[in-house]
Amino acid sequence: MKEKLEQMKAEVLAKISAAVSLEELNEVRVTHLGKKGALTELLKGMKDVAPEDRPKVGQLVNEARSEIEAALEKAKGNMERSLREARMKMEVIDVTLPAKKNMVGHRHPNTIALEEVYRIFVGMGYEVVEGPEVEKDYYNFEALNIPADHPAKDEQDTFYINGDILLRTQTSSIQVHEMEKGKLPIRMIAPGRVFRADEVDATHSPSFHQIEGLVIDKNITFADLKGTLAEFARELFGEDTKVKFRPHHFPFTEPSAEVDVSCFKCGGEGCRFCKGSGWIEILGCGIVHPHVLEMSGIDPEEYTGFAFGVGLERIALLKYEIDDMRLLYENDIRFLKQF
Ligand code: DAH
Repeated sequence: MKEKLEQMKAEVLAKISAAVSLEELNEVRVTHLGKKGALTELLKGMKDVAPEDRPKVGQLVNEARSEIEAALEKAKGNMERSLREARMKMEVIDVTLPAKKNMVGHRHPNTIALEEVYRIFVGMGYEVVEGPEVEKDYYNFEALNIPADHPAKDEQDTFYINGDILLRTQTSSIQVHEMEKGKLPIRMIAPGRVFRADEVDATHSPSFHQIEGLVIDKNITFADLKGTLAEFARELFGEDTKVKFRPHHFPFTEPSAEVDVSCFKCGGEGCRFCKGSGWIEILGCGIVHPHVLEMSGIDPEEYTGFAFGVGLERIALLKYEIDDMRLLYENDIRFLKQF
Protein backbone atom coordinates (compact mmCIF):
# COMPACT_ATOMS: atom_id res chain seq x y z
CA MET A 1 0.00 0.00 0.00
CA LYS A 2 2.75 2.33 0.97
CA GLU A 3 4.67 1.64 -2.24
CA LYS A 4 1.51 2.12 -4.28
CA LEU A 5 0.99 5.47 -2.60
CA GLU A 6 4.56 6.57 -3.21
CA GLN A 7 4.36 5.50 -6.83
CA MET A 8 1.09 7.36 -7.38
CA LYS A 9 2.39 10.47 -5.68
CA ALA A 10 5.47 10.50 -7.90
CA GLU A 11 3.28 10.07 -10.99
CA VAL A 12 0.98 12.92 -10.01
CA LEU A 13 3.81 15.31 -9.19
CA ALA A 14 5.41 14.52 -12.55
CA LYS A 15 2.13 15.28 -14.31
CA ILE A 16 1.83 18.55 -12.42
CA SER A 17 5.25 19.73 -13.44
CA ALA A 18 4.61 18.69 -17.02
CA ALA A 19 1.27 20.54 -17.23
CA VAL A 20 1.31 23.55 -19.56
CA SER A 21 -2.17 24.99 -19.02
CA LEU A 22 -4.62 25.72 -16.22
CA GLU A 23 -7.00 23.22 -17.85
CA GLU A 24 -4.42 20.45 -17.60
CA LEU A 25 -3.80 21.25 -13.91
CA ASN A 26 -7.50 21.07 -13.25
CA GLU A 27 -7.68 17.74 -15.01
CA VAL A 28 -4.96 16.38 -12.68
CA ARG A 29 -6.89 17.64 -9.67
CA VAL A 30 -10.11 15.93 -10.75
CA THR A 31 -8.58 12.60 -11.73
CA HIS A 32 -6.45 12.25 -8.63
CA LEU A 33 -8.07 14.15 -5.79
CA GLY A 34 -11.71 14.13 -6.82
CA LYS A 35 -14.52 11.96 -5.46
CA LYS A 36 -13.87 9.32 -8.09
CA GLY A 37 -10.15 10.09 -8.11
CA ALA A 38 -7.23 7.70 -7.73
CA LEU A 39 -6.50 8.69 -4.11
CA THR A 40 -10.06 7.99 -3.06
CA GLU A 41 -9.86 4.64 -4.82
CA LEU A 42 -6.68 3.91 -2.86
CA LEU A 43 -8.43 4.69 0.44
CA LYS A 44 -11.01 2.06 -0.43
CA GLY A 45 -8.17 -0.50 -0.14
CA MET A 46 -7.88 0.39 3.59
CA LYS A 47 -10.11 -2.52 4.50
CA ASP A 48 -7.28 -4.87 3.56
CA VAL A 49 -4.87 -3.10 5.90
CA ALA A 50 -4.35 -4.55 9.37
CA PRO A 51 -6.38 -2.49 11.90
CA GLU A 52 -3.28 -1.47 13.89
CA ASP A 53 -1.61 -0.10 10.74
CA ARG A 54 -4.63 1.90 9.59
CA PRO A 55 -3.86 5.19 11.48
CA LYS A 56 -0.35 5.16 10.05
CA VAL A 57 -1.55 4.49 6.48
CA GLY A 58 -4.30 7.11 6.89
CA GLN A 59 -1.69 9.63 7.93
CA LEU A 60 0.45 8.73 4.88
CA VAL A 61 -2.51 9.21 2.55
CA ASN A 62 -3.31 12.59 4.08
CA GLU A 63 0.30 13.68 3.80
CA ALA A 64 0.36 12.65 0.15
CA ARG A 65 -2.87 14.54 -0.46
CA SER A 66 -1.53 17.73 1.13
CA GLU A 67 1.69 17.42 -0.79
CA ILE A 68 -0.18 17.06 -4.08
CA GLU A 69 -2.50 19.94 -3.24
CA ALA A 70 0.44 22.18 -2.39
CA ALA A 71 2.16 21.25 -5.66
CA LEU A 72 -1.04 22.00 -7.59
CA GLU A 73 -1.43 25.42 -5.91
CA LYS A 74 2.16 26.34 -6.60
CA ALA A 75 1.99 25.27 -10.24
CA LYS A 76 -1.27 27.19 -10.66
CA GLY A 77 0.26 30.33 -9.12
CA ASN A 78 3.31 30.12 -11.40
CA MET A 79 1.19 29.61 -14.44
CA GLU A 80 -1.10 32.55 -13.65
CA ARG A 81 1.85 34.80 -13.07
CA SER A 82 3.49 33.98 -16.40
CA LEU A 83 0.18 34.45 -18.20
CA ARG A 84 -0.14 37.87 -16.56
CA GLU A 85 3.39 38.81 -17.58
CA ALA A 86 2.79 37.70 -21.15
CA ARG A 87 -0.35 39.85 -21.31
CA MET A 88 1.48 42.87 -19.87
CA LYS A 89 4.18 42.46 -22.48
CA MET A 90 1.58 42.45 -25.22
CA GLU A 91 -0.08 45.56 -23.87
CA VAL A 92 3.07 47.64 -23.77
CA ILE A 93 2.70 50.73 -26.00
CA ASP A 94 5.55 51.33 -28.37
CA VAL A 95 5.61 55.12 -28.55
CA THR A 96 8.01 55.02 -31.49
CA LEU A 97 5.46 53.35 -33.77
CA PRO A 98 4.03 55.68 -36.47
CA ALA A 99 0.58 57.02 -35.54
CA LYS A 100 -2.52 55.86 -37.40
CA LYS A 101 -3.54 58.46 -40.00
CA ASN A 102 -7.08 59.74 -39.64
CA MET A 103 -8.94 60.92 -42.73
CA VAL A 104 -9.60 64.65 -42.31
CA GLY A 105 -12.54 66.37 -44.01
CA HIS A 106 -11.98 69.27 -46.37
CA ARG A 107 -13.75 72.45 -47.35
CA HIS A 108 -15.77 72.16 -50.54
CA PRO A 109 -14.69 74.21 -53.60
CA ASN A 110 -18.17 75.82 -53.53
CA THR A 111 -17.56 76.95 -49.95
CA ILE A 112 -14.11 78.31 -50.78
CA ALA A 113 -15.49 80.19 -53.81
CA LEU A 114 -18.44 81.55 -51.79
CA GLU A 115 -16.13 82.84 -49.07
CA GLU A 116 -14.06 84.55 -51.74
CA VAL A 117 -17.21 86.27 -53.10
CA TYR A 118 -18.20 87.30 -49.55
CA ARG A 119 -14.75 88.76 -48.95
CA ILE A 120 -14.98 90.89 -52.10
CA PHE A 121 -18.51 92.25 -51.58
CA VAL A 122 -18.42 92.59 -47.80
CA GLY A 123 -15.26 94.61 -48.42
CA MET A 124 -17.38 96.95 -50.59
CA GLY A 125 -19.95 97.38 -47.82
CA TYR A 126 -22.52 94.76 -48.85
CA GLU A 127 -24.65 92.85 -46.36
CA VAL A 128 -25.18 89.06 -46.69
CA VAL A 129 -28.84 87.97 -46.53
CA GLU A 130 -30.77 84.76 -47.16
CA GLY A 131 -34.26 83.75 -48.28
CA PRO A 132 -36.51 80.67 -48.40
CA GLU A 133 -35.89 77.76 -50.81
CA VAL A 134 -39.61 76.92 -50.92
CA GLU A 135 -41.21 79.99 -52.40
CA LYS A 136 -44.46 81.48 -53.57
CA ASP A 137 -44.91 81.92 -57.33
CA TYR A 138 -45.20 85.63 -56.61
CA TYR A 139 -41.64 86.01 -55.23
CA ASN A 140 -39.98 83.74 -57.80
CA PHE A 141 -41.81 85.07 -60.88
CA GLU A 142 -44.66 87.55 -60.57
CA ALA A 143 -42.88 90.26 -58.55
CA LEU A 144 -39.85 89.93 -60.84
CA ASN A 145 -41.90 90.94 -63.85
CA ILE A 146 -42.18 87.38 -65.15
CA PRO A 147 -45.81 87.12 -66.22
CA ALA A 148 -47.86 83.91 -66.13
CA ASP A 149 -47.22 83.06 -69.81
CA HIS A 150 -43.41 83.48 -69.63
CA PRO A 151 -41.50 80.41 -70.93
CA ALA A 152 -39.42 80.23 -67.72
CA LYS A 153 -42.61 79.26 -65.94
CA ASP A 154 -43.06 76.16 -68.09
CA GLU A 155 -43.50 73.10 -65.86
CA GLN A 156 -40.41 71.43 -67.32
CA ASP A 157 -38.14 74.06 -65.72
CA THR A 158 -39.79 74.53 -62.36
CA PHE A 159 -40.48 72.08 -59.53
CA TYR A 160 -43.97 72.95 -58.31
CA ILE A 161 -45.23 71.89 -54.86
CA ASN A 162 -48.74 72.99 -55.85
CA GLY A 163 -50.22 75.62 -58.17
CA ASP A 164 -48.84 78.50 -56.09
CA ILE A 165 -45.85 77.06 -54.18
CA LEU A 166 -42.59 76.01 -55.84
CA LEU A 167 -38.87 75.43 -55.26
CA ARG A 168 -37.19 78.71 -56.22
CA THR A 169 -35.52 78.60 -59.62
CA GLN A 170 -33.39 81.70 -58.93
CA THR A 171 -32.09 83.64 -55.94
CA SER A 172 -33.63 86.76 -57.53
CA SER A 173 -36.65 85.98 -55.30
CA ILE A 174 -34.55 87.25 -52.38
CA GLN A 175 -34.42 90.69 -54.03
CA VAL A 176 -38.19 90.97 -53.58
CA HIS A 177 -38.12 89.98 -49.89
CA GLU A 178 -35.37 92.51 -49.28
CA MET A 179 -37.17 95.35 -51.10
CA GLU A 180 -40.44 94.60 -49.26
CA LYS A 181 -38.73 95.25 -45.92
CA GLY A 182 -38.85 98.92 -46.90
CA LYS A 183 -35.38 99.75 -45.57
CA LEU A 184 -33.36 101.82 -48.04
CA PRO A 185 -30.71 102.02 -49.31
CA ILE A 186 -30.05 98.31 -50.04
CA ARG A 187 -26.63 96.84 -50.66
CA MET A 188 -26.91 93.06 -50.40
CA ILE A 189 -25.59 89.77 -51.68
CA ALA A 190 -27.73 86.68 -51.18
CA PRO A 191 -26.33 83.17 -51.68
CA GLY A 192 -28.65 80.18 -51.98
CA ARG A 193 -29.63 76.85 -53.44
CA VAL A 194 -31.92 76.92 -56.47
CA PHE A 195 -33.81 74.15 -58.25
CA ARG A 196 -34.62 73.40 -61.88
CA ALA A 197 -36.04 70.31 -63.51
CA ASP A 198 -32.85 69.60 -65.48
CA GLU A 199 -31.16 66.31 -66.32
CA VAL A 200 -27.75 65.77 -64.71
CA ASP A 201 -24.76 66.18 -67.03
CA ALA A 202 -21.31 67.84 -66.97
CA THR A 203 -22.85 71.34 -66.86
CA HIS A 204 -26.36 70.79 -65.40
CA SER A 205 -27.86 69.70 -62.12
CA PRO A 206 -31.43 69.89 -60.78
CA SER A 207 -30.03 71.71 -57.76
CA PHE A 208 -27.23 74.26 -57.78
CA HIS A 209 -26.30 77.57 -56.15
CA GLN A 210 -26.52 81.21 -57.12
CA ILE A 211 -25.42 84.43 -55.54
CA GLU A 212 -27.73 87.36 -56.05
CA GLY A 213 -26.65 90.97 -55.76
CA LEU A 214 -28.87 94.02 -55.34
CA VAL A 215 -28.07 97.68 -54.81
CA ILE A 216 -30.81 100.29 -54.51
CA ASP A 217 -30.13 103.90 -53.71
CA LYS A 218 -30.61 107.39 -55.14
CA ASN A 219 -28.74 108.10 -58.39
CA ILE A 220 -27.54 104.56 -59.08
CA THR A 221 -26.56 104.23 -62.74
CA PHE A 222 -25.24 101.63 -65.15
CA ALA A 223 -21.77 103.08 -64.51
CA ASP A 224 -22.00 101.93 -60.87
CA LEU A 225 -22.95 98.46 -62.06
CA LYS A 226 -20.04 98.33 -64.51
CA GLY A 227 -17.49 99.57 -61.99
CA THR A 228 -18.67 97.18 -59.29
CA LEU A 229 -18.69 94.07 -61.47
CA ALA A 230 -15.37 94.92 -63.14
CA GLU A 231 -13.81 95.20 -59.68
CA PHE A 232 -15.44 91.91 -58.65
CA ALA A 233 -14.01 90.15 -61.74
CA ARG A 234 -10.51 91.52 -61.15
CA GLU A 235 -10.52 90.48 -57.48
CA LEU A 236 -11.81 87.03 -58.37
CA PHE A 237 -9.75 86.19 -61.46
CA GLY A 238 -6.76 88.52 -61.25
CA GLU A 239 -5.67 92.10 -61.81
CA ASP A 240 -5.39 91.80 -65.62
CA THR A 241 -8.91 90.48 -66.16
CA LYS A 242 -10.95 92.48 -68.68
CA VAL A 243 -14.76 92.56 -68.64
CA LYS A 244 -17.23 92.85 -71.48
CA PHE A 245 -20.91 93.75 -71.10
CA ARG A 246 -23.06 92.11 -73.75
CA PRO A 247 -26.67 93.31 -74.21
CA HIS A 248 -29.11 90.66 -73.05
CA HIS A 249 -32.67 90.34 -71.79
CA PHE A 250 -34.00 89.58 -68.31
CA PRO A 251 -37.59 90.45 -67.41
CA PHE A 252 -36.61 92.10 -64.11
CA THR A 253 -33.87 94.42 -65.42
CA GLU A 254 -33.85 97.05 -68.13
CA PRO A 255 -31.36 97.43 -69.68
CA SER A 256 -29.88 93.96 -69.07
CA ALA A 257 -26.48 92.51 -69.84
CA GLU A 258 -24.42 89.39 -69.61
CA VAL A 259 -20.86 89.81 -68.40
CA ASP A 260 -17.89 88.02 -69.96
CA VAL A 261 -14.38 88.03 -68.51
CA SER A 262 -11.24 87.69 -70.58
CA CYS A 263 -10.05 84.09 -70.37
CA PHE A 264 -7.63 83.89 -67.42
CA LYS A 265 -6.11 80.73 -68.91
CA CYS A 266 -4.93 82.18 -72.24
CA GLY A 267 -5.30 85.90 -71.47
CA GLY A 268 -7.78 86.33 -74.33
CA GLU A 269 -5.81 84.60 -77.10
CA GLY A 270 -8.34 81.77 -77.39
CA CYS A 271 -7.84 78.29 -75.94
CA ARG A 272 -9.69 75.08 -75.18
CA PHE A 273 -10.86 76.56 -71.87
CA CYS A 274 -12.70 79.52 -73.46
CA LYS A 275 -13.65 77.45 -76.52
CA GLY A 276 -11.39 79.58 -78.68
CA SER A 277 -13.25 82.86 -78.11
CA GLY A 278 -10.96 84.44 -75.51
CA TRP A 279 -13.98 85.27 -73.33
CA ILE A 280 -15.90 83.39 -70.60
CA GLU A 281 -19.44 84.28 -69.53
CA ILE A 282 -19.81 84.63 -65.77
CA LEU A 283 -23.05 86.40 -64.86
CA GLY A 284 -26.26 88.22 -65.73
CA CYS A 285 -27.08 91.73 -64.57
CA GLY A 286 -28.94 94.94 -65.26
CA ILE A 287 -30.69 98.04 -63.99
CA VAL A 288 -33.69 97.04 -61.86
CA HIS A 289 -36.89 97.42 -63.91
CA PRO A 290 -39.03 100.33 -62.63
CA HIS A 291 -42.05 98.02 -62.51
CA VAL A 292 -40.16 95.65 -60.19
CA LEU A 293 -39.35 98.53 -57.82
CA GLU A 294 -42.96 99.69 -57.91
CA MET A 295 -44.40 96.26 -57.14
CA SER A 296 -42.29 96.10 -53.98
CA GLY A 297 -43.30 99.58 -52.87
CA ILE A 298 -40.25 101.56 -53.97
CA ASP A 299 -40.74 104.80 -55.90
CA PRO A 300 -38.80 104.49 -59.21
CA GLU A 301 -38.81 108.29 -59.54
CA GLU A 302 -36.75 108.55 -56.36
CA TYR A 303 -34.70 105.37 -56.36
CA THR A 304 -32.83 103.31 -58.94
CA GLY A 305 -30.76 100.19 -58.57
CA PHE A 306 -28.79 97.43 -60.20
CA ALA A 307 -28.88 93.68 -59.74
CA PHE A 308 -26.79 90.69 -60.75
CA GLY A 309 -26.89 86.93 -60.46
CA VAL A 310 -23.87 84.60 -60.50
CA GLY A 311 -23.75 80.80 -60.55
CA LEU A 312 -21.61 79.66 -57.65
CA GLU A 313 -20.68 76.31 -59.22
CA ARG A 314 -19.73 78.16 -62.39
CA ILE A 315 -17.26 80.27 -60.44
CA ALA A 316 -15.82 77.23 -58.64
CA LEU A 317 -15.48 75.29 -61.92
CA LEU A 318 -13.73 78.22 -63.62
CA LYS A 319 -11.51 79.21 -60.74
CA TYR A 320 -10.27 75.69 -60.04
CA GLU A 321 -10.43 74.50 -63.67
CA ILE A 322 -12.78 71.61 -62.97
CA ASP A 323 -14.34 70.28 -66.16
CA ASP A 324 -17.31 68.32 -64.81
CA MET A 325 -19.90 69.79 -62.44
CA ARG A 326 -20.81 66.31 -61.15
CA LEU A 327 -17.48 66.19 -59.30
CA LEU A 328 -18.81 68.98 -57.08
CA TYR A 329 -21.72 66.84 -55.87
CA GLU A 330 -19.98 63.50 -55.28
CA ASN A 331 -17.94 64.70 -52.29
CA ASP A 332 -15.12 62.25 -52.92
CA ILE A 333 -12.45 63.26 -50.40
CA ARG A 334 -9.69 62.47 -52.95
CA PHE A 335 -11.21 65.20 -55.15
CA LEU A 336 -12.02 67.68 -52.38
CA LYS A 337 -8.60 67.64 -50.75
CA GLN A 338 -6.98 69.07 -53.88
CA PHE A 339 -8.34 72.54 -53.16
N1 DAH B 1 -31.88 85.15 -62.14
C1 DAH B 1 -31.08 85.03 -63.35
C2 DAH B 1 -30.95 83.57 -63.72
O1 DAH B 1 -31.20 82.72 -62.89
C3 DAH B 1 -29.74 85.64 -63.15
C4 DAH B 1 -29.82 87.14 -63.05
C5 DAH B 1 -29.72 87.92 -64.19
C6 DAH B 1 -29.99 87.74 -61.82
C7 DAH B 1 -29.79 89.29 -64.11
C8 DAH B 1 -30.07 89.14 -61.75
C9 DAH B 1 -29.97 89.90 -62.92
O2 DAH B 1 -30.25 89.77 -60.58
O3 DAH B 1 -30.04 91.26 -62.81
O4 DAH B 1 -30.61 83.27 -64.84
